[in-house]
Amino acid sequence: MISLPKVQTLKPKTQPHNFFIWGATMSGKSYFASYFPNPLVLNTDGNSEQGSAPSIQIRNIRGENGALKQSAIKQLDDIITALQVENPKRPENQQFKTIIVDVIDDVCIQIEQAICLDAGVQALSDIPYGKGYAMFNTALQQFVMDLKALPMNVIYISRELSITDDNTGVTTYEPSLKTKYYNIVNGNCDVVIRTKKIGDGQNASYFREVKALRTMYNPANITDHRILQLLESCSGMFKKEDLEKLQQKKESK
Ligand SMILES: Nc1ncnc2c1ncn2[C@@H]1O[C@H](COP(=O)(O)OP(=O)(O)O)[C@@H](O)[C@H]1O
Ligand SMILES: [Mg+2]
Repeated sequence: MISLPKVQTLKPKTQPHNFFIWGATMSGKSYFASYFPNPLVLNTDGNSEQGSAPSIQIRNIRGENGALKQSAIKQLDDIITALQVENPKRPENQQFKTIIVDVIDDVCIQIEQAICLDAGVQALSDIPYGKGYAMFNTALQQFVMDLKALPMNVIYISRELSITDDNTGVTTYEPSLKTKYYNIVNGNCDVVIRTKKIGDGQNASYFREVKALRTMYNPANITDHRILQLLESCSGMFKKEDLEKLQQKKESK
């Protein structure tokens, strides 16, 4: 028989592990993410040689007959299994501690493509009774939940969409990930960060701004020193007084 938990007030999880980073091209998304501990990049950009982190290229591969030879869905599934089974068996310094999905927009498209190729149709809407969309949602949700269940940091990277209102001329910026996909991914994220580059060439400065937080995080609770440093570089991540307290504690030591 199942034993129910006790009635009590629990302290919520005090460290963020799931991140969503969005920003314009070349604004420092991949660069920032690559500084997280022992990263593995699930790459779709095809420019993985430029990064310093080890990476796996996610893609659908078609055979000579046009049918699917390697499905991105299967590939993602295999990677997660390897992370569950093989990763913990490695020596400590060879274990991956951060998974970076660079970029999630493309992973969504590849999941969509895999379903379409498998069913021999052009678009999800060609699969009757909305089954295509249902299959897509299941696959994406599964992927996100499996990643979340890993004892690692997970970073989703998305591009930026700028929308200019024709009437007011005001431009607003948002992640380019489609809203319904964004909700699935983001429902499982703790911190949303926007990267921004100001100035060009040698004069460029890079900024990171926190756009959403699951809860108020106290810097004193972040155990990994590197992650603390990275998060401190994001404006709006911690309360000023908490940072000052932490600083005082360090000085007094
Ligand atoms: N915080 C930073 N400090 C110095 N250079 C940076 C910083 N962030 C990004 N860059 C530079 O900008 C380039 C583009 O950044 P990248 O992270 O690849 O952009 P994207 O947002 O397209 O992933 C990098 O190759 C790096 O040289
Ligand atoms: Mg990038």
